[in-house]
Amino acid sequence: MTALQPEGLSIQPRRIDFALPDVLPRHWHGADAFKTHFFNSMSILFPDGERFFIDSVRHYRPQIHDPEQLALIKGFIGQEGHHSHEHIEYNRRLSDLGYDVEKLTRPVQHRIRYANKHFSPERRLAATVAMEHFTAIMADAVLRDRGWFDGAIEPMQRIWRWHALEETEHKAVAFDVYMQVCGDRKLLRAAMRQSTFFFLKDVTRGMWHMLRRDGELSNITMWRQGMRWLWGKGGFFSSLWGAYRDFYREDFHPWQHDNQRLMRQCQQEFTVNETPASI
Ligand SMILES: [Fe+2]
Ligand SMILES: [Fe+2]
Repeated sequence: MTALQPEGLSIQPRRIDFALPDVLPRHWHGADAFKTHFFNSMSILFPDGERFFIDSVRHYRPQIHDPEQLALIKGFIGQEGHHSHEHIEYNRRLSDLGYDVEKLTRPVQHRIRYANKHFSPERRLAATVAMEHFTAIMADAVLRDRGWFDGAIEPMQRIWRWHALEETEHKAVAFDVYMQVCGDRKLLRAAMRQSTFFFLKDVTRGMWHMLRRDGELSNITMWRQGMRWLWGKGGFFSSLWGAYRDFYREDFHPWQHDNQRLMRQCQQEFTVNETPASI
């Protein structure tokens, strides 16, 4: 446990009915194909990715004896399991719209199988820590500025905000376990470089597939506006650069990015169910 951990932090999965429409509007994000498929591509990665995160942390649970930390691990597993479940529902709607979700998840599943077979548990946990940082800094952006979802349909705004909130709550769980059982910063940095590469590759591949199915690949205006929204000055990714780079520091800890106030504000929006999801 670290002194940076917010006081009294408890991590519990929330059961929420997002009431996703049975048929998802093809471009649910303000009729913008680029933004819609950017978030859709991430959703497609979540179920397999989150199962991998759970497994890599659960592997070390027997080595952790602090009851407080064990409770946080339990919360982390519950939240990620529940995210997986909701994103499977979300992704089923993408399949219904004619996108080949199965094809898009195949390389991810293959990579995870490879990692489970050939990587050490430390390396798998390092990859989890790296991806958790990625999700935490994106989550911070989503909580900080509702503008990223301007024009999106209400249930989608809610599902992404809920996910962002819980990613924030558990952002240090895998990190703290890693520092206790391994702590190798070099391995962590290597994992981050590798995870960044594959994350960007997978998101790009997903977007390309869905935009092609929509016949939007040659829409120059969409590309120009979308790339500016993502990579331009103050863009979704470009604004994350400083927080991303901090991960490579020797003394980095996720709660050095102290966004507890933001987290507490957002907690008011969502109520925690009394029965945590069992995983
Ligand atoms: Fe998650
Ligand atoms: Fe997470």
